Amino acid sequence: MTDRYAVIGNPIAHSKSPLIHAAFARQTGQDLEYGRLLGALDDFAGDVSRFLAAGGRGLNVTLPFKEQAFALAEERSERAELAGAVNTLIRLKDGRLRGDNTDGVGLVRDLACNHGFDFQGARVLLVGAGGAARGVLESLLATGLAHLVIANRTESRALDLARRARLLGPVTGCGFGALAGERFDLIINATSAGLDAAVPAIPNDCLAPGAWVYDMLYGDQPTPFCRWGAEQGAAQALDGLGMLVEQAAESFFLWRGVRPDTAPVIASLRHLESQP
Ligand SMILES: NC(=O)c1ccc[n+]([C@@H]2O[C@H](COP(=O)([O-])OP(=O)(O)OC[C@H]3O[C@@H](n4cnc5c(N)ncnc54)[C@H](OP(=O)(O)O)[C@@H]3O)[C@@H](O)[C@H]2O)c1
Repeated sequence: MTDRYAVIGNPIAHSKSPLIHAAFARQTGQDLEYGRLLGALDDFAGDVSRFLAAGGRGLNVTLPFKEQAFALAEERSERAELAGAVNTLIRLKDGRLRGDNTDGVGLVRDLACNHGFDFQGARVLLVGAGGAARGVLESLLATGLAHLVIANRTESRALDLARRARLLGPVTGCGFGALAGERFDLIINATSAGLDAAVPAIPNDCLAPGAWVYDMLYGDQPTPFCRWGAEQGAAQALDGLGMLVEQAAESFFLWRGVRPDTAPVIASLRHLESQP
């Protein structure tokens, strides 16, 4: 019987995950179906249990359910524990539900493997302290970077997050004001300031020579943050489409034990994004 997977969120119609997983399944010859599930805002647990009762093998979880998925999971990976959020649910052989978070692996693979960013000894600025920032902390701190600064509009959230992650590596938190005079080799935008919003108010001169910028957001045009980076002389200004595909590949691996080749999938999504 064909194995069933889905992405659950609300809203969900825009999700590219079904396209990505269908491409992975074709490429690797895996017999699976992957759909979209519009979760009820007041019955996430019910939706998950009905999907699993109907034979579902696993789910990707997106906004606004990642924290509820964390609470529902009966066992969790260490990276999910630190994130306090789950984007991948796996039904184990004994029927229990395992929660994992693949966003951090997705980000680091896109930067290091697809684009060749060298984290060794780098000073990295992570802008934002919400779910997306929490989700990538453990993976970033495992890269060998020299120092990670988490800066957030609401300073207390950055301080909190840095405190929680301190045992994992060299990390501090601050508000945007404390960034004056600081220089970074990589600046990652993990805020939810959208495609039509202003760039987070970090100083224009905080890019070191040859620095890169990375926006977790993506779109058919360069995002405002990528445009800002290019204007400040960034050597590379990358959006989050590669991260999206890489986090999906890690979920696919967790479910199927097979690693898809992400490059053709990123290229075809990029092509689709560029169509009017
Ligand atoms: N590419 C991928 O695969 C991928 C994966 C996961 C997430 N993402 C993206 O990551 C983004 C963040 O999601 P999230 O779940 O972390 O959201 P969230 O939990 O709601 O957190 C929002 C964060 O953005 C900050 N923020 C919002 N508007 C801002 C502004 N105008 N200026 C400065 N800071 C602002 C907030 O600061 P305060 O604390 O001060 O409110 C907070 O730190 C979304 O765009 C999401 O699509 C992408």
